[in-house]
Amino acid sequence: MATQAAEKPTTWRTEPRAVDALDAALKANPQAMPAHPEKWDVSRSDIYVEDRWQPIFAEMRAAGDLHKVEDSPYGPHWNVVSHKAIQHIEALPELYSSSWEYGGITILDRMDDAQLEELGRERFELPMFIAMDRPKHTGQRRTVAPKFTPSAMAGMDDEIRQRTGELLDSLPRGEVFDWVDKVSIELTTGMLAILFDFPWKDRRLLTFWSDWAGDTEIALVRELDDQRMDILREMAAYFQQLWIERANKEPGPDLISMMIHSPAMNQMDPQEFMGNLVLLIVGGNDTTRNTMSGIIHAFDKFPDQRKLFEEDPSLISNAVQECIRYQTPLAHMRRTATEDSELFGQTVKAGEKLILWYLSANRDETVFENADKLDITRENARRHLAFGYGIHRCVGARLAEMQLRILLEEMHKRRMRVHVAGDVERVRANFVHGFRKLEVEITEF
Ligand code: HEM
Repeated sequence: MATQAAEKPTTWRTEPRAVDALDAALKANPQAMPAHPEKWDVSRSDIYVEDRWQPIFAEMRAAGDLHKVEDSPYGPHWNVVSHKAIQHIEALPELYSSSWEYGGITILDRMDDAQLEELGRERFELPMFIAMDRPKHTGQRRTVAPKFTPSAMAGMDDEIRQRTGELLDSLPRGEVFDWVDKVSIELTTGMLAILFDFPWKDRRLLTFWSDWAGDTEIALVRELDDQRMDILREMAAYFQQLWIERANKEPGPDLISMMIHSPAMNQMDPQEFMGNLVLLIVGGNDTTRNTMSGIIHAFDKFPDQRKLFEEDPSLISNAVQECIRYQTPLAHMRRTATEDSELFGQTVKAGEKLILWYLSANRDETVFENADKLDITRENARRHLAFGYGIHRCVGARLAEMQLRILLEEMHKRRMRVHVAGDVERVRANFVHGFRKLEVEITEF
């Protein structure tokens, strides 16, 4: 398991953070980002940075389940905005593909050979099972799914609880600090380091890489996209080293070792193994982190709900679901139509991309009453789509839920109340939905 004693700084680069690089590029040249001419083009990131996406999606939902955007920096696409339409699409994975060969799982398209040649770039792609269709997806998901069952997770409870408790006890009292940096990032990377036996001193690299990997906006700014590719190549080199080290060791209890030594590994080529490793370690990172920040922000915005939590800790499990619904840390996933189809009164042609806006589905009033309000007693909070739906539903959902539940339980034990007490800055992106800074102060209840 990860050793916390070896606390030497990493020798790999952890700067600049993706959000800072994008800010700097836009400051130097405000025109660097292409325009979004259409009213309902919700791929524009300013609506997330400024937290004003809610009425736009509400207007779209009132007008229909899906709407076509013809002209956007990401090309033409369908915005799928209702809960029922997203579930419907995700239940038909043959008709609506996740495969990277069609373009993958985000609004950002895969470049074709001509585009790569024009940019003078080599193709660099890591195949991951999140971006594969059946039957390949099924086989690869099976190699990791057993590590996330309730019994496998139970073994981790104590270690996560202990680390969470220690971290909460170390937080400053009577002074303002950044919850994102001190808590959300620390707890998330620490948990992943434990699960994968990832070198402790390097755990902040996970945040650095996941930010660069998940930032679809960066790819629109040419020089930043070159930088992004370099950073992702470094990440691949790091994981390759880790894999070689682990393959030459006795099998251990960590997930990397288990994956290497599992019989199903024979069916994965080295690129796929690497891709899946990155998916697990990096994919579980910004999502959980941003929910940890989202909980604090939402409790501060809805103090009646924070009070309920303080008075009745038996609400914690449901509060976790409700906070995940409310935050929805991945704003969208994408599918590509493999054939022409009729979808809720619209004709979708083969090859067209469909953006499944989980952020909108989770505010769908036909499913969630008073959807813009946090309600930790909400009976159907579990119906949220923040983990997706169907064959690709998040494999790490139980682990994320466990971490969030433990965080709330340990805060409750310490009678810790966290107030927003300074800057709140959100991520400029249309894929990851979260916070880059959340200044808070701790008191007691
Ligand atoms: C897939 C969200 C935490 C690993 C997904 C998907 C979403 C998602 C939306 C795609 C679902 C779809 O296409 O239908 C989240 C959220 C999390 C979280 C909101 C935290 C609150 C984690 C963690 C891990 C993880 C902690 C692992 C350590 C994965 C993997 C997949 C996935 C491997 C691919 C599953 C497949 O394609 O079969 N997640 N995730 N996630 N997630 Fe998570």
